[in-house]
Amino acid sequence: MTQDEAKALVGRRAAELVKDGMRVGLGTGTTSVMFIKALGERVRAGLKIRCVASSDASHNLGLSLGMDVVTLAELPELDLYVDGADEVGPELALIKGGGGALLREKIVASAADRFVVVVDSTKVVRVLGRFPLPVEVVKMALPLVERKLSDLGLRPKLRHHSDGSVYMTDEDNFILDCACGTIPEPEETAAEIRGIVGVVEHGLFLGMTSMVLVAGDDGVTELTE
Ligand code: 5RP
Repeated sequence: MTQDEAKALVGRRAAELVKDGMRVGLGTGTTSVMFIKALGERVRAGLKIRCVASSDASHNLGLSLGMDVVTLAELPELDLYVDGADEVGPELALIKGGGGALLREKIVASAADRFVVVVDSTKVVRVLGRFPLPVEVVKMALPLVERKLSDLGLRPKLRHHSDGSVYMTDEDNFILDCACGTIPEPEETAAEIRGIVGVVEHGLFLGMTSMVLVAGDDGVTELTE
């Protein structure tokens, strides 16, 4: 199975979790796109749901598929949030934010009763940290935060687009991608980063995941704690 096929499979499986009347959070990234498209098909077939998205891109995709997508202010409590991840580690700890939406993703996840993560099997790791950890930073604080993250040994690098322009999040902040290598104690690392003034959010999602759906050659496996 290719990685794209795995993403499509797990996206469809997650869409089956959605029931009539649910308030659903739409994640961000290529796996979430598969979920949103599969959910869009169910909506076209008559499923009645209301949605909030964790990025402008997913918001617009949902609308283009005829889904009822509103703001979090209009729908502040959700039954289910489905999103991808860059890494899934022990205790269902995650690195997220490869697509730059970590702040809104964490907000939407925290508004949901259940947070279901959809990944292909390449994302499951023994120790977090090989994927660069995204840290969202207020523009004014960039030099300060960059220095403090370097002092912690986290090797931050300002994110750019492929055309060389600086990447800005939907909330108009910078992202520093930290080449940590390994993050053996995620809670400690999260606390250290949180302690830096000017950091808006980091991509460690700890104690938030309800279930992970992992697609691989054997189909979809459920990971719960
Ligand atoms: C976006 C994210 C994504 O969920 C994460 O990057 C995984 O993306 P993909 O499904 O494209 O591999 O956190 O900010």
